[in-house]
Amino acid sequence: MSLSVCLLSAEVAPLSKTGGLADVAGALAKDLVAAGHDVRLFTPLYASIDRSQFPMRPVDGLQHVPLQVGPHHYVISVVTTPLPGSDALVYLIDCPVLFGRPAIYTTDPDEHLRFLAFTRAVLAVCQRVQWSPQILHCNDWHTAFGPLFIKALFEGAPLFARTRSVLTIHNIGYQGVFSATAVADLELGPKTYMLHQDELRAGKINPLRHGILYADAITTVSPTHALEICTDQYGMGLQDSLRMRRDALTGILNGVDYHIWDPRNDRYLPEHYGPDTLSVKAGLKRALIERLGLTVPVTAPLAGMVSRLAAQKGIELMFDALPQLLEWRDLGFVALGSGEPKYERFLTELAQRFPGRVAFRRGYDDELSHWIEAAGDMFLMPSLYEPCGLNQMYSLRYGTVPIVRRTGGLADSVQHYDPQSGQGTGIVFNDFNSEALEWALNMALDLYAEPAQWQRMVRNGMAMDFSWEKQGEKYVEIYRRLTTDR
Ligand code: ADP
Ligand code: GLC
Repeated sequence: MSLSVCLLSAEVAPLSKTGGLADVAGALAKDLVAAGHDVRLFTPLYASIDRSQFPMRPVDGLQHVPLQVGPHHYVISVVTTPLPGSDALVYLIDCPVLFGRPAIYTTDPDEHLRFLAFTRAVLAVCQRVQWSPQILHCNDWHTAFGPLFIKALFEGAPLFARTRSVLTIHNIGYQGVFSATAVADLELGPKTYMLHQDELRAGKINPLRHGILYADAITTVSPTHALEICTDQYGMGLQDSLRMRRDALTGILNGVDYHIWDPRNDRYLPEHYGPDTLSVKAGLKRALIERLGLTVPVTAPLAGMVSRLAAQKGIELMFDALPQLLEWRDLGFVALGSGEPKYERFLTELAQRFPGRVAFRRGYDDELSHWIEAAGDMFLMPSLYEPCGLNQMYSLRYGTVPIVRRTGGLADSVQHYDPQSGQGTGIVFNDFNSEALEWALNMALDLYAEPAQWQRMVRNGMAMDFSWEKQGEKYVEIYRRLTTDR
């Protein structure tokens, strides 16, 4: 039986993206729609969304609708655009005072309010069109107040009486904490007691914690990370609430949208390849080396990285490991990303110190990210924590050996290669220190020097299948359990 699902996400690829949340929201919606479910995917209409590329159509009856959020008054409109490559529709909440800013996320004082208003707007739209979704699926801190709003603001309302809520935690490192002085923005009135009282007394409100406390089901994006976030090491202060709700918590590994991320049909590549046409990959490597002005021979191994430059991504492990390795061994390195200045500085200086061998492109570049996946021999993800991670799964399909730390989704998707048995898909190291990363890189370079071993590992990886058809079904199982558990 088909389910009705209201999906809320602060980012949706290809409209708006800073990281994996966007890829996952778009791909999950596509997959659920393809499986016959009634999915409406809501996201804010940011100024950065290119309206010439994504034609917007106003929704009748949802234009210039007043929206009250605590003491604040807004006017919202709703437009839709088809999600490229799918029958799914994206519903965009248009409210220029909130979303007409240069970036998706801001450090403006009303950041919490932008996403509270977005969440409230979605519920208001459901009310206005009298749509009673069976599932309200919220993602990350931005929409984590959805479950509490349903329980507190709409208690007894027939429209949401049968709605069950799911919160997916993509990144527990971002919790959206704001000052308790803004408590009126939640409009909870006498239900303010439903807020986490200790935190409130300490002057803080933590959206992600309230999602954890009130969602009917909680998911995170890999089985290993579901275990990790209940520990003091990885819980980021939310471990107590997560342990309390352990029975409601499931880890579901993200899928890969192979219509977008597969070298057999990648729209950014001039030539396509698969496991039987790896010579094409070698040609793409040559082309990227030339394009980036590198002088490393095409026979030397080329390592790549595409990443938000945040502490989460383990860039600091490279501070010692990479210069050492570049001094001693033959390799090229290509990095794309932006973020914290100290990491950008490190990569800029690395490129200056090893001209012709290291290229750093600062910024966000979709096309180049596909090229790095295709042209590289190896891909670095030494993350401190990684709820799922997508690039290691993309890398596997592109025949680009992932070098990852054993955490979260990296542990669940990459199997350490064993030269004896020929089993395994990448290089996996355990400890979060530069010696461990160096060990992993040395092992990769040694294997690269043995073409038979390398080819075996590359092919093992290319044969892996992380398609959404399998992963989406796991969400559907949870939705079904919730809608029948009454
Ligand atoms: P996270 O969501 O923590 O950033 P993921 O591995 O889940 O990590 O997803 C990152 C996504 O963002 C991938 O699709 C990756 O290619 C993309 N990405 C990250 N940085 C950049 C960049 N500078 N340019 C283009 N794409 C990027
Ligand atoms: C995040 C996580 C990443 C995950 C992505 C999509 O931002 O950092 O590991 O793949 O969300 O779920």
